Amino acid sequence: MPLSPPRACAALLATLLSGTVAAAESAAAKPKAPPSVAPLAAGEKVGWSHAPYEAGDCSLCHQRSDPKNPGPIVKGVNELCTSCHEEFAEVKERKFRHPPAEAACTNCHNPHNSRERKLLVAEQTALCFGCHADVKAASETARVKHAALSTGSRCVNCHNPHGASVEHLLVQLPFDLCLSCHSKDGVPDGRGATLTNFKSWLEQNKVWHAPVEAKDCTACHKPHGSDSFRLLVAEYPAKFYAPYDPANYALCFSCHNDRVVAEPVTTTLTNFRDGSKNLHYLHVNRERGRTCRACHEVHAAKQEHQIREGVPYGARGWVLKLNYTKTATGGSCAKTCHGTKTYSYKPVPEKKS
Ligand code: HEC
Ligand code: HEC
Ligand code: HEC
Ligand code: HEC
Ligand code: HEC
Ligand code: HEC
Ligand code: HEC
Ligand code: HEC
Ligand code: HEC
Repeated sequence: MPLSPPRACAALLATLLSGTVAAAESAAAKPKAPPSVAPLAAGEKVGWSHAPYEAGDCSLCHQRSDPKNPGPIVKGVNELCTSCHEEFAEVKERKFRHPPAEAACTNCHNPHNSRERKLLVAEQTALCFGCHADVKAASETARVKHAALSTGSRCVNCHNPHGASVEHLLVQLPFDLCLSCHSKDGVPDGRGATLTNFKSWLEQNKVWHAPVEAKDCTACHKPHGSDSFRLLVAEYPAKFYAPYDPANYALCFSCHNDRVVAEPVTTTLTNFRDGSKNLHYLHVNRERGRTCRACHEVHAAKQEHQIREGVPYGARGWVLKLNYTKTATGGSCAKTCHGTKTYSYKPVPEKKS
């Protein structure tokens, strides 16, 4: 099944375009009102207090020590902050910087005290959503949510709010970032299944699918939430069997040619054929069609063509072995879904045994 460049290009173009639009939209977004950075009013519950404010000497930052009338601050906001927080000199050198942090630290921090940890002017996610309405809309309306946004440090699990050396203010390269959480055994997905430990899976399965080889997890997954199964960027059937409809395989067909499953007879579209009888068509294109996962591992496999070793059956995950063997002109599957069957794509055989 060759790659189809026009589709791949269309997908890339669409990504580029939507990226531009999203950036333009969020660039335009401004918080509704500039946050107040006065100390919390007397009587408000203080969660956290800034050490120099706690010390009581307003003149550490303001012109006067009189708490009733401290006057303006002695220098520009960021200059003031970085005079003590020297580590921020390095942040300014990073390749990607967050515009609100370059503009004023007080866009997000109250220099006196706050109800929120790290002196944030609002609950962290609400603070981010205040300017990133597109991400808010996309994640809140998504049918499939990603717990990475709601657990631990939330947005800051993945983004550095000040500046980063990775694009999109990511704290690590996307692949390393995903693996930093997805390298544990037994993590539940919240719907009864267990998620893969990708570190060990990728170590044990050396034949990586090209986009995984390119370390591009987000070629197929949306980190903030998605309407598709498994946070996928496009449709892919959730179950082992599915009635055939190319729209259900939009994910695979955004990079692969869908004709491979559409044409019953071919001598060119695929090597998964017996003579000219298209076995991709035979298995997939039917009312109770086998989905690609019946035979392929989407991330990484032990054998070429991403052929999987076995198929998990039932709730306890018992594995039915595929016993796939590659031959010089095709391959065979032994005692699996059916008795041993062999296919050969060349030469076109006259009769099948
Ligand atoms: C760590 C530095 C720091 C300390 C210490 C500090 N402030 Fe501030 N304060 C600031 C900054 C920065 C601003 C925002 C100024 C700006 O944006 O121009 C501010 C603003 C304020 C404002 C709001 C002014 C306005 O425009 O609404 C008040 C009121 C205030 N400070 C009172 C105090 C008092 C009272 C003390 C001492 C008890 C104090 N501050 C100690 C840094 C500090
Ligand atoms: C006079 C020195 C001084 C100045 C000026 C100063 N800070 Fe701090 N800041 C501290 C100290 C001391 C701490 C507490 C020690 C620590 O956690 O590193 C602290 C802690 C913090 C924390 C972490 C609070 C926590 O709960 O962990 C934040 C956020 C912060 N400062 C932001 C700012 C911002 C924003 C400014 C400028 C408006 C600023 N600081 C100016 C001395 C200063
Ligand atoms: C867009 C919002 C935003 C802006 C603007 C911003 N910060 Fe922060 N900052 C955060 C968040 C969110 C955290 C909490 C990170 C976490 O939970 O680990 C944080 C954490 C911190 C901390 C605590 C670091 C630690 O390791 O605990 C300091 C100090 C700090 N910021 C200083 C600054 C300074 C100085 C500036 C201006 C140069 C600034 N921030 C601008 C959002 C912001
Ligand atoms: C699991 C990691 C992860 C978490 C958690 C996360 N992001 Fe992202 N974010 C990414 C990645 C990866 C990208 C790069 C875009 C892509 O490849 O889809 C991105 C891109 C972005 C962008 C720029 C492009 C766009 O989609 O608009 C913004 C803005 C953004 N994130 C904001 C947020 C906010 C706000 C939160 C918290 C609600 C958040 N992110 C939580 C991983 C994450
Ligand atoms: C005061 C407004 C404001 C706040 C608050 C804010 N941002 Fe941003 N953010 C911006 C602007 C402006 C840009 C630059 C335009 C753009 O790329 O969308 C930006 C850019 C980004 C980008 C890079 C987008 C890209 O495509 O490279 C990420 C990621 C991001 N912000 C995440 C966050 C997170 C996480 C928070 C909360 C901790 C947050 N922002 C809070 C205004 C804000
Ligand atoms: C901060 C930890 C963390 C990071 C970073 C993270 N994830 Fe997750 N992810 C989780 C947790 C926890 C779950 C299980 C709960 C859930 O389904 O949301 C999960 C679930 C998923 C799921 C299954 C969602 C479902 O419900 O079917 C996919 C797919 C996924 N993550 C992909 C990614 C990708 C791709 C990245 C990198 C861009 C990534 N994750 C980064 C914590 C993380
Ligand atoms: C070519 C597209 C593609 C790429 C690239 C990809 N995935 Fe997936 N991913 C899928 C599909 C399809 C599923 C659903 C598999 C199934 O149910 O048969 C999935 C499922 C998942 C799941 C949930 C199920 C599980 O076994 O844990 C996680 C988590 C996940 N992927 C993480 C990642 C990470 C991390 C990367 C990067 C190393 C990545 N994916 C790269 C297509 C992709
Ligand atoms: C982001 C693009 C992309 C997506 C999405 C994608 N693939 Fe691939 N896939 C490739 C590339 C590139 C190759 C390597 C070139 C080739 O063999 O066609 C490849 C190779 C394969 C191979 C191995 C071919 C061989 O002969 O070794 C299989 C099997 C495969 N993909 C199945 C799938 C399935 C199933 C899906 C949907 C779940 C899918 N792919 C989604 C890009 C993609
Ligand atoms: C019944 C098992 C089975 C199913 C279901 C299946 N494949 Fe395959 N596929 C194979 C086998 C076996 C090969 C290896 C053919 C060879 O080279 O001998 C293959 C090869 C491929 C290749 C490499 C190029 C080629 O066609 O020879 C791609 C790409 C591919 N499959 C994609 C898919 C996609 C996408 C789906 C779901 C729409 C799918 N497959 C469903 C068994 C299957």
